[in-house]
Amino acid sequence: MVETGMSDDIKLRFDTTGVDWAVAANVLKRAPLSIREPDKIQATFENSNLVCFAWFNNELVGMARALSDGVYQSVIYDLCILPEHQGKHLGSRIMKALTKRLNTPSVVLWSVPGKEKFYARLGFNPMLTAMALVKDPDYEGLPVLGLGIMRFFGFFQVQPCRAIARHG
Ligand SMILES: CC(C)(COP(=O)(O)OP(=O)(O)OC[C@H]1O[C@@H](n2cnc3c(N)ncnc32)[C@H](O)[C@@H]1OP(=O)(O)O)[C@@H](O)C(=O)NCCC(=O)NCCS
Repeated sequence: MVETGMSDDIKLRFDTTGVDWAVAANVLKRAPLSIREPDKIQATFENSNLVCFAWFNNELVGMARALSDGVYQSVIYDLCILPEHQGKHLGSRIMKALTKRLNTPSVVLWSVPGKEKFYARLGFNPMLTAMALVKDPDYEGLPVLGLGIMRFFGFFQVQPCRAIARHG
């Protein structure tokens, strides 16, 4: 399925057709969001209930994925846009497309520090009692440079990310 919208000529696709996972790893790295092995990114997206990829012509410029029980609860992960395509409402467009398709009364996500207002504009609220048992696979085995970049952007604090929910 292909969806067109306001963000220039960028099309949203909700399947993994045509995705080069090394390119996807580069989008995650450059956004920046995370440094991960392409095969792990492929596994996480292929194991997700809903995926979204943003294509500018044949170039992958953004993506996100979600897990869902299809009835009550969904959780969105890995929203990221290439820097040159940020600030053009593509992130909002992907979020709206995902929440519409998920169609569960509750949608949860973990905001990286500094992005809470972006999600608040979309109706998400902080979850003050969120609890997590976290062993971050990205932390182990990261190249020193990658680890430094992640720390620079505020990852790996005692409370690494903020949980945010939207209840429909
Ligand atoms: C966060 C991200 C997905 C937002 O996507 P985007 O396409 O740049 O955002 P949009 O253009 O849709 O922004 C929508 C609105 O939110 C605002 N906004 C965006 N980021 C914001 C922030 N960090 N704080 C406050 N407002 C923000 C925009 O100004 C815009 O406001 P407007 O409607 O008045 O113009 C994108 O910047 C990104 O990929 N960042 C790096 C990776 C990342 O941090 N991902 C989030 C993981 S939790």
